[in-house]
Amino acid sequence: MEPCQRYSLFSSLMHWLMAILIIALLIMGWQMGQMPKGPEKFEWMGLHKSLGVLALLLILLRIPGRLFSRVVTAGHTLQDHIARLIHLLLYLMMLAMPISGVVMSWAGGRDTHFFSLLTLSGAREKLPAVAGFAHEIHVTLIYGFAALIVIHIAGFIYHQFIQKHDILHRISLRP
Ligand code: HEM
Ligand code: HEM
Repeated sequence: MEPCQRYSLFSSLMHWLMAILIIALLIMGWQMGQMPKGPEKFEWMGLHKSLGVLALLLILLRIPGRLFSRVVTAGHTLQDHIARLIHLLLYLMMLAMPISGVVMSWAGGRDTHFFSLLTLSGAREKLPAVAGFAHEIHVTLIYGFAALIVIHIAGFIYHQFIQKHDILHRISLRP
């Protein structure tokens, strides 16, 4: 592995923006789950949905940006293969979570507002089976997603501080 290789500025920027956004969405989602039904929960749900749609827009930009930019983790050790698999699964989660959220809301007949900029109207006739399936996916995947993030961060700590490969530098925003 080449420690001096770097991700593009675009990939690095997307990584850190999305990392903050996703951790916020997970914490916020769990908080919402604890709240009693009412106007406060409704407001949080609106913000969760707007930020979730932002995550969807960012990942839809990030994936093509990543496909056309430099590949960094090009090693062939078992550790490199595991890192690549975890990254791939993280990308799948970053797609599946917001898509299942949007489908759940749409099929439940609820509008999705993207802040006050755009509104995706809910289905005119509710589709309870589709909404139920999307809900199941949304609330089940969070455990896999959270576990992958923990593994990813543990891998980072091992690599950076125990093996002493400066991988943070590869995805850093600093020139
Ligand atoms: C929600 C949280 C996060 C997600 C979804 C995430 C996702 C990813 C993905 C998909 C990649 C691969 C990039 C690519 O190949 O295009 C990556 C790389 C990386 N991430 Fe994260 N990440 C998160 C949080 C973090 C945190 C908190 C750290 C460290 C403090 C971190 C450190 C790194 C590093 C160092 C790399 C580069 C690995 C390499 O050079 O092979 N990530 N991350
Ligand atoms: C990366 C993006 C997203 C993440 C990480 C995320 C995470 C979460 C989490 C952790 C929960 C709590 C689940 C529970 O109570 O067990 C939740 C609930 C929810 N999310 Fe998301 N979400 C995302 C995107 C979206 C989007 C785009 C929408 C809709 C436009 C959405 C709509 C909802 C709704 C309606 C609930 C409440 C479900 C219920 O009634 O139990 N989410 N989300």
